[in-house]
Amino acid sequence: MVTDVSLTETLPTRYYLDPTIWEIERHQIFAKTWVMVANDYQLPKTGDYVTEQVANWPIFVQRADDGSLRAFHNMCPHRAGPIVWEGTGHQANLVCRYHGWAFDKEGLLINARDFGADAPDGTCLTKVRAQSWRGMIFVCLDPTAPDLIEWLGGFIEECAPYPTESYRFHSRTIRHTAMNWKVYNDNFLEGYHLPLVHPAMSREVEALEYRITGKGDPRWNIHTAPRRDGQTWSGVWGYFYPCFSFDIFPGGMAVERWLPVGDDRMDLIFEYFFDENADDADTIVKDSEEVADEDVRVGEMVQKNLIAGLYKTGWLSPRHEYAVGEFHQLIRDAVDPYFS
Ligand code: FES
Ligand SMILES: [Fe+2]
Repeated sequence: MVTDVSLTETLPTRYYLDPTIWEIERHQIFAKTWVMVANDYQLPKTGDYVTEQVANWPIFVQRADDGSLRAFHNMCPHRAGPIVWEGTGHQANLVCRYHGWAFDKEGLLINARDFGADAPDGTCLTKVRAQSWRGMIFVCLDPTAPDLIEWLGGFIEECAPYPTESYRFHSRTIRHTAMNWKVYNDNFLEGYHLPLVHPAMSREVEALEYRITGKGDPRWNIHTAPRRDGQTWSGVWGYFYPCFSFDIFPGGMAVERWLPVGDDRMDLIFEYFFDENADDADTIVKDSEEVADEDVRVGEMVQKNLIAGLYKTGWLSPRHEYAVGEFHQLIRDAVDPYFS
């Protein structure tokens, strides 16, 4: 039955292609939000670090002497060299990898090696905020944003039932994809595509009963679909704006995040965690990876059509795609004041 409701338009194509909009998103969205970049288990010892790119800003998070986290832009004020090499590693001191300038724990310059002059007073690394929640490390480039826990708000209570801390790291996959990050968001925020894009998964959960619910905060929602017993999917997914989500499995979970690395590229990262007694973890991961491949395949095709230029805008299903509409409104609110 078709009901008489006014249709919501999708974000116009230019939001997915225009480098000016991507630049606005970098500053008005990603520089102002908390972004998950690492896990506590990756930094067991003082000096351990992880690097990541937050919307093309290279940053690193490091375990400090007192067990707390510290984070900086991975950029030296001398000539923009890296303080740590990319990836995960261990580095006791904050000494630039390029010419060896040394910085103290707070990032203040303490020695400009063999420079031949005094560097200006106050020369320092640029700090980034880092906090962890339930074993997951988030960073925020904005010194004025609320603390992480306040930022997550009601999402914390929704996640309380899942014993994520009892799960151990199992494996990680990274896909370098050719799509704007919002193409993946749009896809994540509706179950309308499940029967077509994920035929195997749709035999395991009731795809037509896929529901997305929030509690008035458009930044997050919880997805559920009734599960058929004994299958991979528990039928619970969570999303937090702009690019964080989790998938709950029997005896485990995947943390899924998609980090933009340009206006037309995005890294999709899955990290799997399981209870030590989970005996079918490998099968679950295989099934989840198949679904990720299916989502990337359709997303990259959507991106090609956006680039081709024929598509300008479409309409969102009031039954299945209302969360996409909420996401698009968040984008409009962030971008439009800076774009004409
Ligand atoms: S760029 Fe860091 S010491 Fe030169
Ligand atoms: Fe999907």
